[in-house]
This record gives sequence, structure tokens and C-alpha cells, in this order.
Amino acid sequence: MKRVCVTGTTGYIGSWLVRSLLQQGYHVHATARDPEKAQRMLSTIEGTDRLQIYRADLNEDRSFDEVVKGCVGLFHVAALMEFGTSVQENVEDHVRRNILEPAVLGTRNLLQSCMRSGTIKRVVFTSSISTITAKDEKGDWTPVVDESSVTPTDLVWKTKNSGWVYVLLKLATEEEAFKFAKENGIDLVSIIPPTVAGSFLTPTVPSSLQVLLSPITGDPNFYPVLDSVHSRLGSIALVHIEDICRAHIFLFETSGASGRYLFKEEFNRSAPSIISSKRLLDLGYRFEYDAKDVIKDSIQSSIGNGFLNSQVEFKV
Ligand SMILES: NC(=O)c1ccc[n+]([C@@H]2O[C@H](COP(=O)([O-])OP(=O)(O)OC[C@H]3O[C@@H](n4cnc5c(N)ncnc54)[C@H](OP(=O)(O)O)[C@@H]3O)[C@@H](O)[C@H]2O)c1
Repeated sequence: MKRVCVTGTTGYIGSWLVRSLLQQGYHVHATARDPEKAQRMLSTIEGTDRLQIYRADLNEDRSFDEVVKGCVGLFHVAALMEFGTSVQENVEDHVRRNILEPAVLGTRNLLQSCMRSGTIKRVVFTSSISTITAKDEKGDWTPVVDESSVTPTDLVWKTKNSGWVYVLLKLATEEEAFKFAKENGIDLVSIIPPTVAGSFLTPTVPSSLQVLLSPITGDPNFYPVLDSVHSRLGSIALVHIEDICRAHIFLFETSGASGRYLFKEEFNRSAPSIISSKRLLDLGYRFEYDAKDVIKDSIQSSIGNGFLNSQVEFKV
């Protein structure tokens, strides 16, 4: 059976992706900066006789050399989750030097390890819908939002809207990944998830669930993020954790896949823009969960975790 590597396995999507891959019979090399943390989270899932956990850090050159050896696929899920900065002076210089440049170098370090392995056949890069906008350069809604509706970098620098550093991080690392892949003959596809929610393996409630549930919890840190997503896209685009993990595996296994794939279920649409997953659907992917399922499972798992109390009623 195929052997693949996953980065970011202490995180929400990475841990669930390991679970999904093991369920499908894969051998998995799971990487984490803190392997004991990964061990605690992943030890309860089925198929751990096919799981090996490695310590690796994107900021360390050659850190992934041993990890990707013998693997045919890499799922690059890990990312620095930095949304803003508290630095007040020379903020742009600070973000460029201390956040963006190390992240871009980390992407290159990882892909260089893939090249040296000689066994990796495809890399699946986890991008984000934060790289996408439903507005054109004049600020008007576009009728169809797809993989080409990329948020202009200069606008992000100029407006510095909520989450601007994260948007720049995702844009810069994905651009570097495609550039490096093209220059070095690596087969790389990118998946563009919207807000991911549903069940989780992490000990604490993942940030994306907290964002989604912020109208219920009233959390003043997460609600502005939801609000900003809504004003950029004209809706709340969602996906179930099971669907996004199945789609990662689908894009790895489907030989005709190439480029970027936008992924969504819309909720609370208040603008004329329609977010399109046509490329993914045309390739043959089928969603199993709709927006209602995503919200329902998020509420249930958050009640199970004690994050929400059981008085919350589901009335969507
Ligand atoms: N969740 C969503 O709604 C959503 C939506 C769109 C896109 N995405 C993308 O999906 C991916 C995973 O998101 P998530 O929600 O699962 O985030 P998460 O729970 O915060 O996980 C992030 C993971 O990245 C790891 N990481 C950070 N810096 C690293 C480094 N220098 N070297 C190695 N690992 C590093 C973290 O490890 P530590 O535990 O050591 O910090 C953690 O395992 C990210 O690329 C994110 O941009 C997520």
C-alpha cells in the first residue's frame, strides 16, 4: 500500500487527514514540531500500526529529508497561523522579514527534501480561501468566484484588513510552491478550503470552529474574522472536515488533477457572487456534507468538548 507524508499533524486538518488516510489503508509518515503532542492526539485512531510520527520543522533546512524518504505523496498542510502583528513601527518591513520570508524559505526547504527523496510523485498543497475575493478591482461583486479570483497582494498590504498577515502568508507560500514545483518538475496541486468545521481530534476546539460558532459564543476575537470573510466573499463558505480530507486524497489519487481547486458549501449568502467548485466537480469529486451538516456537527462536537453548553439548540 502507498506510503505518504503529512505535515502539520498536530493541527485540525492534518490530524484528521492522517485519520482519513489510515482509514483508506495508507502508510502515513506524520510530521510535527512536537512529536509527543502528535502521539497523544493520534494514538487513539485506528490503523496506527501503519503510522510513523517524525519531528520536523519547516524552518530547519533538511528537516524533512528522512521523513519523505520512500513516500510517493506529500500533503503539505502545515502553515504558520499568524493573523496580524502587534508590532507598531516599520510593520511592513517586520512582516516581510520575520514572517513572510521565513515561511517562503520553509516551503522551499520542504520541496527540496521532496526532490532529494526521488520518490515523491505528487504534492498536495493546502491553500486557503483567504487568497480569494469576490470583488473586482473597482470593489464590485463578480458574478462567479473561482480559482482565478485571487486577492491582489497590493490591496492586502494597503488595506490591512482583519487577518491580512495570514492572507499574505498563504499567497506567498502557495506562489513559491508553484514556482519551485514548475522549475524543478514537481507535480503539485493546490486545494483551497473555505472555513473547515465539523468534528475534531485536537484537544481544544479548532480556531475555524470558533470562528464559525462566534455568532453563538459572541467571542470578540473570532467574530470580526467571520465578518471580514463575509464582507470579502458575500457569504460564509464552509466545508466539512470529512469532505476536505477526502478531497485532499482525491486530488492526490486523480491523475488528471493540476493547478488549484476551490472548495465550498455556501451559507448566508447576501451578495450576487456565486462561489464555484466547478473544477473540482468536473474532475469527479462529490461532496457528502452540506452547510447544515457542517454546522450541526460543529455544534455537537463543541458540546461534547464542553466548549458549548448543551442548551444550544440547532435550528438552521
Ligand atoms: N481550518 C480552516 O478553516 C482552514 C481553512 C482554509 C485553509 N486552511 C489551511 O489548512 C492548513 C491547516 O489548518 P488548520 O486549521 O489545521 O490549522 P492548525 O490547527 O493551526 O494547524 C497548523 C499546523 O501547522 C503546524 N506548523 C506551524 N508552523 C510550523 C512549522 N514551522 N513547521 C512545521 N509545522 C508547523 C502546527 O504545528 P504546531 O502544533 O507545532 O504549532 C500545526 O500542526 C493550513 O495551511 C491553513 O492555512 C485551514
